[in-house]
Amino acid sequence: MTIDCLAVPGNGWRIVTAAEQRNFNATVHAGRYFTPYAAIEEEALFAGRRDQLLGVTDAVIQKGRHAILYGERGAGKTSLSSVASKFLDMSPILSVRVNCTSTNTFGSAWMKLFSEIETMAERPAPGFGSTTARQSFSARSLFEADRTPNGVRKVLSTLPSSSVPIVIVDEFDRLPPAPRRAFADLVKMLSDHAVRATVVLVGVADSVDELIAEHESVECALSQIRLPRMSGSEIRRIVENGMNGLKLELEEQAEDRIVLLSQGLPHYAHLLGLHAARSALLRGKGAALKLSDVDRSVRKGLASAQQSTRNALSQGDQQSAPRKPVQAGPIRLRTGQD
Ligand SMILES: Nc1ncnc2c1ncn2[C@@H]1O[C@H](COP(=O)(O)OP(=O)(O)OP(=O)(O)O)[C@@H](O)[C@H]1O
Ligand SMILES: [Mg+2]
Repeated sequence: MTIDCLAVPGNGWRIVTAAEQRNFNATVHAGRYFTPYAAIEEEALFAGRRDQLLGVTDAVIQKGRHAILYGERGAGKTSLSSVASKFLDMSPILSVRVNCTSTNTFGSAWMKLFSEIETMAERPAPGFGSTTARQSFSARSLFEADRTPNGVRKVLSTLPSSSVPIVIVDEFDRLPPAPRRAFADLVKMLSDHAVRATVVLVGVADSVDELIAEHESVECALSQIRLPRMSGSEIRRIVENGMNGLKLELEEQAEDRIVLLSQGLPHYAHLLGLHAARSALLRGKGAALKLSDVDRSVRKGLASAQQSTRNALSQGDQQSAPRKPVQAGPIRLRTGQD
């Protein structure tokens, strides 16, 4: 994409020089494939996590089964929960999500979820007589009267049997204990009644009991899926997916360095990939991403990052010491097809 001129309303800033233009284009291109601040929604950009994907898809396929996905911050939980349904050969999938906060109750979380779900039910037909008609309306209106786990069960039971509802409750760790307990009760109830819906609880935690204190009572109904840090080859896949999309070649040492610095966390792989790709794209068509681009990206990443990221990146930088001098001689290039 080439943008001739960018005018930003309000401050009068616009691109005037060719260098600014190149910089802007590089930023836009690299940002399509490297998204350190946004979860992945496209299958094509989703790397690795085969076992965990299977865990979630299995829970969806098996009636009465639900899932809890947990791991450290930034491990890729939201991304996995977003793309999992795309790997299922089932339709129509009805996937809804709520991002919980510390002020949510069980009822308010479900009001938000049900506002995204349309359902059909018999309602009195307009006019005289005692006839009824099937009408479509928001599931929220059915839930309002009984905001309990049993109320949720009843509303979910009204959804058409052909649909495959997947309910993602993200940031579950932010909920107070009472609504968390209510979600555990709900999972048990949905499982006992074999309701055709899958609840996927997603939260930051080292273990399930940090998220659900009484998890033994729901053990049979809940697949526990831990998301560890990514392996080196999974991080490589992220970098190579981006390079493929950008049609950039990749110097092997540059890739190794991103893998080392990322410490298994996909957020860092995207952050470094973004800045390194921008730096390489600025050299113009046919450029390859080099070690020096990665070094530059560490400086850029550190400058723009939160303090926690700064600490982690500089830690990773120290772990990579002693740094071998870059070998002179032929540079080995990698493309995503390798
Ligand atoms: N499997 C993956 N393939 C490619 N990129 C990924 C993958 N998983 C996560 N990412 C990237 O890693 C970063 C963090 O992902 P995500 O937001 O899903 O993590 P999270 O565990 O939900 O984070 P948080 O704990 O902050 O909610 C994002 O930039 C996302 O695009
Ligand atoms: Mg998340």
